[in-house]
Amino acid sequence: MPNGNLEDHLFAVNQDGILKQPLTWPQRKNIILDVAKGLAYLHYGVKPAIYHRDIKATNILLDEGMRARVADFGLVKQSREGQSHLTTRVAGTHGYLAPEYALYGQLTEKSDVYSFGVVVLEIMCGRKVLDFSSGSPRAFLITDWAWSKVKAGKVNEVLDTILVKTEDSVSANPRAIMVRFLLVGILCAHVMVALRPTILDALKMLEGDIEVPEIPDRPAPLGQPSFYNASGNTFSISPALSCLRLPAGDMLRKKYAKN
Ligand SMILES: Nc1ncnc2c1ncn2[C@@H]1O[C@H](COP(=O)(O)OP(=O)(O)O)[C@@H](O)[C@H]1O
Ligand SMILES: [Mg+2]
Repeated sequence: MPNGNLEDHLFAVNQDGILKQPLTWPQRKNIILDVAKGLAYLHYGVKPAIYHRDIKATNILLDEGMRARVADFGLVKQSREGQSHLTTRVAGTHGYLAPEYALYGQLTEKSDVYSFGVVVLEIMCGRKVLDFSSGSPRAFLITDWAWSKVKAGKVNEVLDTILVKTEDSVSANPRAIMVRFLLVGILCAHVMVALRPTILDALKMLEGDIEVPEIPDRPAPLGQPSFYNASGNTFSISPALSCLRLPAGDMLRKKYAKN
């Protein structure tokens, strides 16, 4: 693939720390739609359905026209309809793994939807999924950050500044559509399985065929102070991951069911 992987285009910087090849809004939009269509094919276009299990920016390759292909099928699994999918060998990449899969090995098509949502957020925000660089024990996690900002009505602080800056031609970027893509990313990367759309519904939302529902509440994010001990040196696992205060039926679906 002549243009390598998505991560290099999103995050590769030169010696001055300046982005080498910032993607335009039309490029980002097409990449997100291409990946959604690729996943829709894996989940609904073949039987039995295929779960990719390792959707992330380095596994999305770009062709000469900057159109995206989902690559690296090293972890794929075929669904076994009618059976629950509990696996003891969880595989994937930190930050992109759906919580219920990372913790309980519960694999459904919604695990790929979660990873897709994370990729959408990376593309729309221009930030990596995880960042430990602040030196604080509170790692930056894009899903928690984007969700809490948007819930606080601060959409502008979340969108990549390259997309929203006003002084050049980029100002023609349609803000309403960019916000819609951002919201779909947040919804897809929701911690609760039942609240994530299928990839087909996510695609319809991206294309504007169906409305994006209001972003549901979620357990308090990882960075919340109450989850740190008094000394501030250690932290307990996010309730988003540990299931505290979560209705069990939302976090874990007992049986695989297409809906
Ligand atoms: N067909 C290809 N064209 C361009 N780059 C590729 C191609 N296949 C792999 N790469 C590059 O190699 C990296 C790793 O490839 P991948 O197939 O994901 O293997 P791995 O199992 O090591 O993750 C990709 O992120 C991409 O940068
Ligand atoms: Mg790879």
